[in-house]
Amino acid sequence: MRGRFITFEGGEGSGKSTHVQLLAERLTAQGVDVVLTREPGGSPGAEIIRHILLSGAAKPLGAETEAILFAAARDDHVRNTIAPALAAGKWVVCDRFIDSTRVYQGIVGRVDHRLIRGLERVTVGDAVPDLTIILDIPADLGLARAARRRTSRKADRFESENLAFHELLRQAYLTLEKLEPQRCVVVDGRNAREVVAGDIWKVVAERLRPYQSRAREATAP
Ligand code: TYD
Repeated sequence: MRGRFITFEGGEGSGKSTHVQLLAERLTAQGVDVVLTREPGGSPGAEIIRHILLSGAAKPLGAETEAILFAAARDDHVRNTIAPALAAGKWVVCDRFIDSTRVYQGIVGRVDHRLIRGLERVTVGDAVPDLTIILDIPADLGLARAARRRTSRKADRFESENLAFHELLRQAYLTLEKLEPQRCVVVDGRNAREVVAGDIWKVVAERLRPYQSRAREATAP
């Protein structure tokens, strides 16, 4: 049976990397076989493209070209990491996926939605997320958190955009939940880490029932 696919989305400093990790640990403790991954990246080919994108080298080429590069990275990641894991019955927890392209390049970067949807069609295939957690925090708080976390390196291509860009991002993410409520759930990322982790677990447990996955395996012939 195909595994479950959970993606995390949100603006800079929203706590995604912490919470993908905590969720993966909790699922593993429940006996679920989990693959933890991220975008852009998550496979050797996609990691090379990640480097190009986050260095800002592709920025002068425009948001459309960046969207195409994110899609090229996604194609490699889906083929080599996500699809094989799901086919093997594993659960995949991924830090960012299609919604990042919809929001960063589509809504904020104003790339035509037909191009964004077309790229999705050719890259995603059956690897449509079962659940997308959107971690929501005010843009100024997220940027301050991201700056604290980044003591030794420069802001990357997207972190260095201004506050208005990040506010637009936040609103775009909130709209996603309204458009696809069956897949997307907004979780308040302002709370303490344990509270946010508890809220996320509640959503995962209610919607995807990881306990059942373990029970099914235990009773399988
Ligand atoms: P990363 O260092 O992984 O940061 P974060 O902790 O914010 O996830 O950087 C990924 C950056 O790439 C992030 O600023 C969002 C951006 N991005 C896009 O613009 N489009 C995409 O499709 C993806 C996957 C990421």
